[in-house]
Amino acid sequence: EARNLSDGFGRRFSYVRLSVTEVCNFRCTYCLPDGWKKTGPLSFLTPAETANLAAAFAEVGVSKIRLTGGEPSVRPDLAEVIAHLAAVEGITKIAMTTNGWNLDRRVAQWRNAGLSHLNVSVDSLDRERFRHITGHDRLPAVLAGIDRALGLDFTSVKLNAVLLKDTAEADFDVWAEFVRHRPVAVRFIELMRTGDNADYFAANHVRGSIVTDWLEASGWQLQPKLKDGGPANEYAHPDYAGRIGLIAPYAAGFCDGCNRLRVTARGKLRLCLFGEGGCDLRDLLQKADDRPALIERISGALTGKPVGHRLKDNLPGDLRHLAELGG
Ligand code: GTP
Ligand code: 5AD
Ligand code: SF4
Repeated sequence: EARNLSDGFGRRFSYVRLSVTEVCNFRCTYCLPDGWKKTGPLSFLTPAETANLAAAFAEVGVSKIRLTGGEPSVRPDLAEVIAHLAAVEGITKIAMTTNGWNLDRRVAQWRNAGLSHLNVSVDSLDRERFRHITGHDRLPAVLAGIDRALGLDFTSVKLNAVLLKDTAEADFDVWAEFVRHRPVAVRFIELMRTGDNADYFAANHVRGSIVTDWLEASGWQLQPKLKDGGPANEYAHPDYAGRIGLIAPYAAGFCDGCNRLRVTARGKLRLCLFGEGGCDLRDLLQKADDRPALIERISGALTGKPVGHRLKDNLPGDLRHLAELGG
């Protein structure tokens, strides 16, 4: 009989965010302003190790795996990783979060391999602002990729835009137009303070309430939150095909509904986006026979999952920036 994963606070985990690489090809001002720098050998989980990991999680109730990075699409074998996960019994949702760099060229291949849910980061719909934030003049390519993805029958396509003071509000109406005829959810993300962006955070953080104030004033309605619906609150409007949402990690209660665990590109279990705790799993990913021991190690580690992050205390744990953990 399968045991499901849960922690000391009664939260259950059906969702794993798996980083597949630490490499990123953007240099977003809030994350990797100087670009990604190699710090050690690039030895990330292979498709076979990934499949062994997923099979263990599936046995204890995980049905969704989201691939993150770094930028997942810098892996030449990404389609193979997806296909390996798709072959695991019990894994019914394979999601990915990407910066869109390779979307237009490769999304059909990923979809065919079994990718079912797609999130794309698009911090601004203004070409110059996008170039300034990401370091690359690729907005037209990213938008072409999104429209291609919308033709491929994904279960969901969502966009992420980090809320930045001074520029966010100027974009609101442009975003509303964008979702008028596209069935996508655009989620504004409150900037999080990570270990190395303190000055940037002080200069650019803006409260998520600027989003909800605008939505409520424009007649958008808060949608009921699904029990395992992830960190976003989403709003809908009868005149719009898409939705607009907010991810507000500083809001009270944000962590109460946490449904997720994380595994790094090198095979370490991380219990929370912020904070220490977790353990290395890689030695048990080499053969299917190790699955019981792997499950034992994962469920044992879960007793150490903290009740929540400590962003408010400015204690973002040992995290340098989100590229390391896939956000
Ligand atoms: P789904 O529910 O699978 O769609 O995932 P998501 O919306 O969380 O995925 P995505 O990778 O697009 O992440 C959007 C933003 O939410 C990123 O900025 C993440 O860092 C943030 N986020 C996701 N999970 C957590 C979490 O557990 N804690 C915190 N603090 N932020 C998170
Ligand atoms: N605060 C908020 N969101 C962030 N992201 C990366 N770093 C931060 C941060 N410090 C976002 C990316 C991407 C998602 C995975 O996380 O823009 O959309
Ligand atoms: Fe869960 Fe930690 Fe994220 Fe809070 S910050 S929602 S506890 S992973």
